[in-house]
Amino acid sequence: MKLWSTICAATLLLASASAATLEAEDAAKAPRRDDVVVMNFDEDDYGDWTIEGEAFGAAPAKGTLPGQMTVSGFAGSGLANTFYQGDKTQGKATSPEFVIERSYVNFLIGGGGVPGLSFDLLIDGEVARTATGPNLNPGGSEALDWATWDVSELQGKKCVFRIVDEATGGWGHINVDQIAFSDKRRAGMQHEREMVVEKPYLLFPVKQDDTRSYWIKIEVDGVVVREFTTRLALATQPLSPADYNACVDMSPWLGKTCKFVVEKADEDIDFAPITFSDELYGGAASYDEKYRPQFHFSPRFGWTNDPNGLVYYNGEYHLFFQHNPFGVIWGNMTWGHATSPDLLHWTERGDAIYPDELGTIFSGSGAVDVNNTTGFQTDPNGPAPLVFMYTYNGPSMRYGNPASQALAYSLDSGKTLTKYEGNPTLPHIVGGNRDPKIFWYEPTQRWIVALYLDGEDYALFESKDLKSWTELCRIEKLGCSECPDIFELPIDGDDNNRLWVFWGGDGKYLLGKFDGKTFTRVTEPLNTKWGGNDYAAQSYSDTPGRRVQFSWMSGGEYPGMPFNQQFTVPRELSLATTPDGVRLRIYPVEEVATLRDEEVELEREPKDGAAIYRATKGETNLDLLDVELEIGQGDLPKQFSISLRGKKIKFDVAAQTMTYDGIVAPCAFGNGLSLRLILDRTSIEIFANGGLSQISACFVPEDENAAPVLETRGLTELDAKVWTMKSVWNVKN
Ligand code: FRU
Repeated sequence: MKLWSTICAATLLLASASAATLEAEDAAKAPRRDDVVVMNFDEDDYGDWTIEGEAFGAAPAKGTLPGQMTVSGFAGSGLANTFYQGDKTQGKATSPEFVIERSYVNFLIGGGGVPGLSFDLLIDGEVARTATGPNLNPGGSEALDWATWDVSELQGKKCVFRIVDEATGGWGHINVDQIAFSDKRRAGMQHEREMVVEKPYLLFPVKQDDTRSYWIKIEVDGVVVREFTTRLALATQPLSPADYNACVDMSPWLGKTCKFVVEKADEDIDFAPITFSDELYGGAASYDEKYRPQFHFSPRFGWTNDPNGLVYYNGEYHLFFQHNPFGVIWGNMTWGHATSPDLLHWTERGDAIYPDELGTIFSGSGAVDVNNTTGFQTDPNGPAPLVFMYTYNGPSMRYGNPASQALAYSLDSGKTLTKYEGNPTLPHIVGGNRDPKIFWYEPTQRWIVALYLDGEDYALFESKDLKSWTELCRIEKLGCSECPDIFELPIDGDDNNRLWVFWGGDGKYLLGKFDGKTFTRVTEPLNTKWGGNDYAAQSYSDTPGRRVQFSWMSGGEYPGMPFNQQFTVPRELSLATTPDGVRLRIYPVEEVATLRDEEVELEREPKDGAAIYRATKGETNLDLLDVELEIGQGDLPKQFSISLRGKKIKFDVAAQTMTYDGIVAPCAFGNGLSLRLILDRTSIEIFANGGLSQISACFVPEDENAAPVLETRGLTELDAKVWTMKSVWNVKN
């Protein structure tokens, strides 16, 4: 943040030298005349315009037409809207002749951008300027926006305006309004600055309030290499602690000249705060902000949601994650990357897969291609290829491709990822199909991918080389959507007795059998996680002997922080036989206990029907705790509660439930109760009976939490062990 104040003081003095700004300055010097309005479509007919076909109706529309999404952003009381009787109608509207007497034509435009639609300026019957609406795909918006043509070189010429609708399919209509000749450009301008990529990381400040968002492009040799939207911090805006320097990896273009382009900005853009650095984020990292989880992963800056590409290779756990590098809200989905030797101490490695014209980078998975089935490994003595399959969310980019699945690989143990040139490898099937989870199935020597299709349906596919896929079977009506996982586990640790687990985004799972072709369910959808903040979990590939999962603690709040969202502790999955049948258990991996610092000595203070347990030694980090406690069956009252630093968990033995903050989870008390509680600065994870029942929840901590370590009601005795936990961020990255 110190860096920023210096930068900002300097930027106020520097004017942008972009072509657009110079043009604006020239225009500002000339005396300004009134606009010449060509057409505002506010009358009850099209006046002297010639109308052909049906698409325009008999008169300008007064706004939204029947069956249309709400049309907004037009001026006055009407507009040309070719949705008359739907997308299928066609037509043409042509203006009388005008002489061009100003430098600009401003107009409002919206609707479709598909072939057959256009708003044109014709000179001698030839199209001299043309525009369309922005929409290509289902969804989108019916809002009109300003556009401007620079017609200075055409001044004095005669022209005609024409609106064409020859499109009949989806988004087969165009909306135009408020056409006027003007001395002043109305649409936001493009601002650009060329700079040499002198160091690998490009940094620029982003704001986190409701400052307007801009489309930004970074071009090298005329090709767009990075593209995103962000709330750019302009020089005149004061920065808050939540604002941060976003970091773009430009290392592939070191030494080249890049062009930083800000689209459609009404304000002047100051490029001076942009710097280059050898270090990720210019070395900025504190990890001890007020609401920073101390032993749960959260990204240094920006937003995260799902864990992605979880793979273990050569002593390193890779954690890729859905990342918005350019803000603390969801968007610009990119794969962030961190590595750890122990699933706890993470080093961020910078973003690994950036969006491109095929789409933003949605969730996916990773594995080690031990047999080099992909053929990517050319050096037989080099590391095995790490392979990653991810979703391109096409519709989120302006190119509007459908969602598809793609491949990336690494030949340097995960340091750098390369997108496969033949992408997409699994073209669009249906809806927003996404979140491929791959694994190698030894008996058939095939890769298998579990893919989310649409609704509550999933499918499995097989491939020899991860590059082309054949569908195997569908797994329908799971009771949830998104983020599948599939793996086989021994029951009660018996390797000769195994079942497959098929898992969906919110933690519903099926137990079943898989023979390399078909998944056959042996249970209905079951549930094992009951968290208020627990979604889109994914398990690691290539961790022999155990199945380890991270989950996104979706929906946690981190007010005023330059990051947003965190993951759960890493947890091990296993299958256990219970009176209800075989069930999945979720429990912290054994490494979590290595973070225990001191065992807290507790002093019991009885208090009518309750007991308060305070720490006797005055430990300081009582906001980071690991607790184990056991209650024998004979000691169980009908109802009781246990509070950890004021976070209350209620148990109802008759109802067989545990309740935390309104979340009710089933809980068996047949063998008494064993409980593991993991408390970090902004989260609590509750594991009952070895993880057969589990709640993960986030909170915003109070400023001064004076609550005792433990407080019980209804229990006479408590056999608890409590440890303070070490922060994993002691070692600065
Ligand atoms: C789940 C999810 C995925 C998608 C990703 C996008 O949280 O919606 O289905 O791939 O997040 O960020």
